[in-house]
Amino acid sequence: MLEEIKALHTEIEDFVVDTPNQLEDFRLEFLSKNGRIQSMFKRIGEVPNEQKAAFGKGMNELKQKAQARFDSLQAQLKSDSQQENSAKDDITLTAPSYPVGSLHPLTQTLEEMKNIFYRLGFTISDGPEIEDDFHNFTALNFPPNHPARDEQDTFFVRKSDDPNIDDLVLRTHTSPVQIRLMEKQKPPIRAIMPGRVYRNEAVSPKSYFLFHQVEALYVDENVSVADLKETLITFVKLMFGSDVKYRLRPGFFPFTEPSLELDIWWEANGSGKWLEILGSGMVDPNVFKAAGVDPEKYTGFAWGMGVERIAILRHGIDDIRTFYENDIRFLEQFN
Ligand code: DAH
Repeated sequence: MLEEIKALHTEIEDFVVDTPNQLEDFRLEFLSKNGRIQSMFKRIGEVPNEQKAAFGKGMNELKQKAQARFDSLQAQLKSDSQQENSAKDDITLTAPSYPVGSLHPLTQTLEEMKNIFYRLGFTISDGPEIEDDFHNFTALNFPPNHPARDEQDTFFVRKSDDPNIDDLVLRTHTSPVQIRLMEKQKPPIRAIMPGRVYRNEAVSPKSYFLFHQVEALYVDENVSVADLKETLITFVKLMFGSDVKYRLRPGFFPFTEPSLELDIWWEANGSGKWLEILGSGMVDPNVFKAAGVDPEKYTGFAWGMGVERIAILRHGIDDIRTFYENDIRFLEQFN
């Protein structure tokens, strides 16, 4: 029996382990419940009484030895495999490049516009996207039955038959911010008001239910149509270059008198057309009165321009929907 213990010592020392499978073989052979060491323990009955003490001691040593050998083989395997992995890394390779995002083309266009107006001395203001009927329509001199109030164009958030409760709408333009600004700030005012606006329109290459405008308001003593024209022309030249082809046409808005619209000539694929980018005019005295500004003392001009229209001209895009689909192949072109 003691001879067998000795022989097992040698076997444990000589057992070759190069792979995790071989390590598992070692464990099954020597350390498991049905392994050789456990089965020898069970044979203690065969050992003569005077040898029992020596047998027990020898077996315990054998068991400890097998466990220690197992632990060291396992550690060896682990460090071998780590070395193998690190040998695969080629530290001279160029680091992989990760895609870096860029600003959305509308944001880029808006930034350009803001920079220009900043240079012209305009501040920036904003207002809520959910507006009350007073700011979106009434204060802007819309008559009570104006078609723009119709549900065709306006998304209503709250519509009430009670004349004491004002309707709430998703603002259909940024013009209500003019009213909010005049309510809280005395003239002189020289501000732009960028933001989102919403209209209940069918989606097509030319229209979307949501778009962006940059409103402007200039109020002081003795502001004239000549100031409006000069500011608009300066803007289009800075935005599109001094050879830009533009035209001013008379227009109509409830909140301005007189009113002007500005078109830019757009040439694409050999043909060209006029594209309207903004409505503008001299602030109607009724608007001043609704916002608490003295129309006897002050005059002013205002406009609302379409950011998408300007981005379309700037980048030759012919479908407004592409701004909202977030197709990565479209967006990647504006890095
Ligand atoms: N609010 C008008 C629209 O959405 C645009 C506009 C026209 C704004 C004339 C103005 C203005 O401030 O003076 O179509």
